[in-house]
Amino acid sequence: MILSIESSCDDSSIAITRIKDAKLMYHKKISQELIHSKYGGVVPELAARLHAVTLPKILEETKEYFGELKAIAVTNEPGLSVTLVEGVVMAKALSISLNLPLLPINHLRGHIYSLFMEKETKFPMDVLLVSGGHTQILHVKNYDEIEIRATTLDDSFGESFDKVSKMLGLGYPGGPIVEKHSKRGNANKFLYTIPLLNSPKLAFSYSGLKNQVRLSIEDQEVLNNEVKADICASFQKTAVEHLMQKLKKIYKDKTIKNFGVVGGASANLYLGDKLEKFCKEKNAVLHVPELKYCSDNAAMIGRCAVDAFKLDKFIDMKKIEVKPRLQSFTKNV
Ligand code: KG4
Ligand code: ZN
Repeated sequence: MILSIESSCDDSSIAITRIKDAKLMYHKKISQELIHSKYGGVVPELAARLHAVTLPKILEETKEYFGELKAIAVTNEPGLSVTLVEGVVMAKALSISLNLPLLPINHLRGHIYSLFMEKETKFPMDVLLVSGGHTQILHVKNYDEIEIRATTLDDSFGESFDKVSKMLGLGYPGGPIVEKHSKRGNANKFLYTIPLLNSPKLAFSYSGLKNQVRLSIEDQEVLNNEVKADICASFQKTAVEHLMQKLKKIYKDKTIKNFGVVGGASANLYLGDKLEKFCKEKNAVLHVPELKYCSDNAAMIGRCAVDAFKLDKFIDMKKIEVKPRLQSFTKNV
């Protein structure tokens, strides 16, 4: 079995995954959302201190598996450096005390593997990754070869939801909140311009849309719940249309067999609906993780670690590094 640790942002999570069939034997996640919501976003140092308290508590519950462990896996990139360190330090300590090898796991690769929970790996897979830190279209050939087909030039999809929610005083994390308010709103009330609509760039940009929302908020004499709902709905529609427009452009002359959507924002049902239609048109199978594995969790890190274990991706304990920025997926097409 593999013990995996995730602490790249504000979720402390540990999982135990059986190597032979990828069965999830144990999984726990303690989210810090409520605490950070007071500040309107994640406070890195506070998140790190909370990981230092919660990770050891979760670890206590996994002791019965210690005798069966074959490796320790840990998210070491990308994420917040101070929170990643908490997981990596714990992984190193376990590696020394239990005399087990270490597997460094890229958090984004972990999200991709959330599609394969307790299942076989299915590659090649085209993937839309929509999280709080990233917005990317990836062509995943195998564990190592991941081509970035489009990425964001500034804010990410999930981050723009967080910022809109903050501007409207609705709370954190903004994604589920904005989605909920959108359901009551008129999506055609505010006519926001779709970012990069006439640009040939195969990329995403959300900072301009965020500014359009800010200006429209400043324009309102009364910002009641009805107006807020209309802003949420109009913003969500534009944010998703931007994603879909670039996605269609990228795959215009390409066939897709399997298409996956991963990351915290893959929980968005409005986006899911558009992706379903897109996949139907392309004759592709849409793969969506179970809701509980959309946001950050150690179960997806453990699932990824099963393949890492089989591919011998071990690292010398002295060489494992925390890399806050994305460094692995470098090949652009
Ligand atoms: O993958 P994740 O848990 O953390 C990162 O790796 O960043 O993603 C969190 C992000 C947050 O920005 C959150 O607002 C967004 O995912 N999110 C959503 C929804 N649920 C979560 N965005 C849009 N609609 C949602 N329903
Ligand atoms: Zn994530």
